[in-house]
Amino acid sequence: MSRLDAVAAGVKFVGTMYRDRAVAAYGARVKREPMDLLGLPAHQTDPYPLYDQIRSRGSMERTRLGNWVSADHSVATEMLRSRQFAVRGEDPTAFDPVPRDLLDLSLLALNPPEHTRLRRLAGPAFTPRRMAGYASLVEQRLHQLVDAVDADRGFDLVEEFASPLPVAVITELLGVPAAKSAALAQYGAVVASALDGVRSIGHLRRLAHAQRQLTRMFEDLLELRRQEPRDDIVSALVAEQDERTSTDVLLPLCRLLLLAGFETTLNAIGNGVRALLANPDQWRLLVDDPSLAPQVVEEVLRYDPPVQLTARIALADAELGGVAVRRNEWVVALIAGANRDPAVFDDPKRFDITRTSAAEHLAFSSGIHYCLGAPLARLELAAAFRVLAERLPNLHQIGPSRMRRTTAIHGPLTLPVAG
Ligand code: HEM
Repeated sequence: MSRLDAVAAGVKFVGTMYRDRAVAAYGARVKREPMDLLGLPAHQTDPYPLYDQIRSRGSMERTRLGNWVSADHSVATEMLRSRQFAVRGEDPTAFDPVPRDLLDLSLLALNPPEHTRLRRLAGPAFTPRRMAGYASLVEQRLHQLVDAVDADRGFDLVEEFASPLPVAVITELLGVPAAKSAALAQYGAVVASALDGVRSIGHLRRLAHAQRQLTRMFEDLLELRRQEPRDDIVSALVAEQDERTSTDVLLPLCRLLLLAGFETTLNAIGNGVRALLANPDQWRLLVDDPSLAPQVVEEVLRYDPPVQLTARIALADAELGGVAVRRNEWVVALIAGANRDPAVFDDPKRFDITRTSAAEHLAFSSGIHYCLGAPLARLELAAAFRVLAERLPNLHQIGPSRMRRTTAIHGPLTLPVAG
């Protein structure tokens, strides 16, 4: 088997423990296999009943490939915070779902101490003060987007509102010259599409091409900001760079920053508006008091998070959720399932923007890999929901929404609305 075939057959990002659709469908027929079932289109559209079933069977469930899956809030929290579980194994012979040479996920693929060092370097770029400085940019961009839609005739909320916002914000934050931002967004979208798994050899080739282009663009950008620093994240990273941090480490970090804020934020806006419009009483609450927007953000991230799962490998034999996990076994934490755990959230299926426990959600993960961009995401989402409620109070859905056919990332591909 060639390297490409091997990678195409094996590649899946965090949700790697399932195989391609045909195998999944077959596996589901012959056995009640949780990770295979999650790969089926019906469950990708609405995975929540399956998460409930998995949780009802126990704190942890064995997968066909000998790994584990859990939709239990306490298990997910404990594992994400534990030093016994990591994003990559230390044993080079252990099964590794991520093709490291092809998809360098930077922070997301590093264990301490490399992770600690890089996170310290990247931290200053995301301080609350710096994020607050972006509030007016976000606000301005949101109003431009609402100005441009034809709300009376109807528009696609995903294409015309949710997608353009994160791209505009992250390219501005990174300080990408305007002339390059469209190309960067395009290549970024190709790489982001691989986070849920590589679908074919063609997809793999497009991914490799996009990676090379992004690398070249970020090499130029890092050099430019070394010569001409500005008030942006890339300039901050270059300024913090020390002798132990080579450009080979900064490049994947820049790529991750570009990608991590794309699909996540756009799907969170889509999921949020979908939930608000499906629950008109909750939309009314927000319209009557737009200052509730930050609470809406937490409840949206709890109720229907864009990142549905993550995974960790056991570095040593460990006990988790009352189960013995052996060294080198992977555990998939179903973040979205944990967010509906009735042990933590009363009446978890109810979308309730006044819920006080919403912030217990795991949408941004937990532990050392807790989302670095969470302050930015919260700022963008709160502003997006508030501006929509203020500018389009009569917003309503005018047709069916088409959902993404992906497992790790969840959200609408289209959401036709009018207002
Ligand atoms: C609603 C929006 C977002 C959601 C739901 C989200 C979710 C997540 C999750 C679940 C993780 C951890 C995955 C794991 O534990 O395996 C993560 C990590 C990360 N996120 Fe976000 N994210 C969002 C937006 C952003 C934005 C806007 C940025 C930056 C511009 C960003 C940058 C990062 C980075 C750099 C990491 C890696 C942190 C580390 O490994 O130490 N995210 N995010």
